[in-house]
Amino acid sequence: MKHFISMQQLSGETINHILKEAESIRKSPITINKQLFAANLFFEPSTRTKMSFEVAQKKLGLEMLDLHTEASSLVKGESLYDTSKTFEAIGADVLIVRHPSDYWIDEIEEEGQLRIPVINAGSGKEEHPTQCMLDLLTMYQEFGNVKRRKVVIAGDIKHSRVARSNALALEKLGADVFLSAAPGFEDDSLHFPYITMDEAVEIADVVMLLRIQHERHIHKAETFDYLSLYGLTMERAAKMKKHAIIMHPAPINRGVEIDTKLVESKQSRIFKQMENGVYVRMAILMHVLKEWGIINENEINKRQALNII
Ligand code: CP
Repeated sequence: MKHFISMQQLSGETINHILKEAESIRKSPITINKQLFAANLFFEPSTRTKMSFEVAQKKLGLEMLDLHTEASSLVKGESLYDTSKTFEAIGADVLIVRHPSDYWIDEIEEEGQLRIPVINAGSGKEEHPTQCMLDLLTMYQEFGNVKRRKVVIAGDIKHSRVARSNALALEKLGADVFLSAAPGFEDDSLHFPYITMDEAVEIADVVMLLRIQHERHIHKAETFDYLSLYGLTMERAAKMKKHAIIMHPAPINRGVEIDTKLVESKQSRIFKQMENGVYVRMAILMHVLKEWGIINENEINKRQALNII
């Protein structure tokens, strides 16, 4: 049994299965008919991931344990592993962890004695698998699948866990991935071709923008000209294909990587992505709880979606 840590651990088949479940949950909500506890351990700020996990947990009928890390025994030096074992001991059934390090899961896996699943809610600069899954769901809703779709991931690639998770997962699913970055924001460990934003808007089915991750590095982009040099301006957006969509994991630096008027434009799916985050996180919770034998099919209440005329 595996923790839900990385897009690289998931086969294309598993990704497609979870996305189908998420779409099914969107159309026809479900609840779990069993008392279960989900513990949320966030060691970095978060609005979308934390709140959409909470909504997902509430919709499924899970009880929530919300650790205030700064007021916990972690500040006395307790390890993440011992904190996780504590949650297991007091009855948590699943842990959701956001962490600034790329290596926090190693501590848990090296000890190897944790008997409840862990879901990665964003770690370091490498992985944000639940964000990637909601991004994929948004693209699937738009295009059916991503095969041979041209997806340009643009922005601060070097410091973005969203870029890495998405680029590698999209490649696995058959998309043509391109990157676009200002000097200093490229990541040489990714093998995809780099193109300019002017080239990107001409070819892309999806323009996925990333924010400059000011908290992860001291490189300060000259934000007054970043938009015109490297961002999605109104002029560039006008050259996009009619069917192409704009995505962004948010939070957004309005007027830096994207003209503020494009954030809620017809081609933008940015708030759709956030909505999809709830369904995807419900599906991922269901997936790990089933995989670990914590719930079975008989403990899931399926409801028909309400048709309001
Ligand atoms: N996209 C994303 O992870 O947003 P938060 O940091 O607000 O959770």
